[in-house]
Amino acid sequence: MTLKYVKKGNRAKQPVTEKVIWKPGTMLYPLPAVMVSCGSTPDEYNIITVAWTGIVNTNPPMCYISVRPGRHSFDIIKKNREFVINLTTRELAFATDWCGVKSGRDFDKFKEMKLTPGKAQKVQAPLIMESPVNLECRVTEIIPLGSHHMFLAEIVSVNASAGYLNPKTGAFDLSKTNPILYLHGKYYETGDFIGRFGFSVQKKKKKPLKKNKKPPHKL
Ligand SMILES: Cc1cc2nc3c(=O)[nH]c(=O)nc-3n(C[C@H](O)[C@H](O)[C@H](O)COP(=O)(O)O)c2cc1C
Repeated sequence: MTLKYVKKGNRAKQPVTEKVIWKPGTMLYPLPAVMVSCGSTPDEYNIITVAWTGIVNTNPPMCYISVRPGRHSFDIIKKNREFVINLTTRELAFATDWCGVKSGRDFDKFKEMKLTPGKAQKVQAPLIMESPVNLECRVTEIIPLGSHHMFLAEIVSVNASAGYLNPKTGAFDLSKTNPILYLHGKYYETGDFIGRFGFSVQKKKKKPLKKNKKPPHKL
C-alpha cells in the first residue's frame, strides 16, 4: 500500500518557503539513538547512548560512533577496540535516555536499567539481550575530529532476536520492533509505511483475473 502523496503524479508537492540562515550546526535528523555496550569483563561493562552513528560501507560492513573523550565509555572502547551497537525500541526508550544522561563512573547501567548482558559471538563487549538487533563491532581507526573522536569499525557479527522472524518466510521484520528515532533533541516512534526502495520507478503490476471472474464492466 502506498499513500496518496507518494504516488507518481504527486511528485515535488513539497511547498517552497523562505529560508532562515543559522550558524553551522549538526542539523541532520532523524538519527537513531542507539545504546552502545562496551567493556571486556562484567566489572567494566558499560552502556553509552549515541546518536552520532551510522553505516559508512557495505562490503566489508562498516560503521562509526563518535564519542567525546570525557565519557567513561571513551577509555573503555579505546582500550578494548570493540563495542556493540544495540538498536533501540519504544520499550527501551527510558533506558536509552537514562544511559545517555548518567555515567558508568557512578552507576552499573545494566543493573540500574535491569538490562541483561549477553555473550557476543566475536567480541568481548556484551550484547544487550533486550535489544532486537546487536551489531558486534571491531574498531579499525580512531579519528580525532574536535569535540568527538570517531571510532570507525567493522561489523563482525549481527545478532537478531528470533522473536521478530516471520515463522513462514524467515524474514526479519524490523518495523515490528517499534524502533525509535532521535529528532533534534526528542524521541519519536516511526510512522506509517509509505513505500519500498525503488517504488518511485516501479511499474504497476496488473492483477491477474481470478478464475471464472468476469472482466469489470466498462462504461
Ligand atoms: C539521545 C542521546 C544521544 C547521545 N549521543 C552521543 C554521542 O553521539 N556521542 C557522545 O559522546 N555522547 C552522546 N550522548 C551523551 C552520552 O550518552 C552521555 O554523556 C552518557 O552519560 C555517557 O556515559 P558514560 O560516561 O557512562 O560513558 C548522547 C546522549 C543522548 C541522551
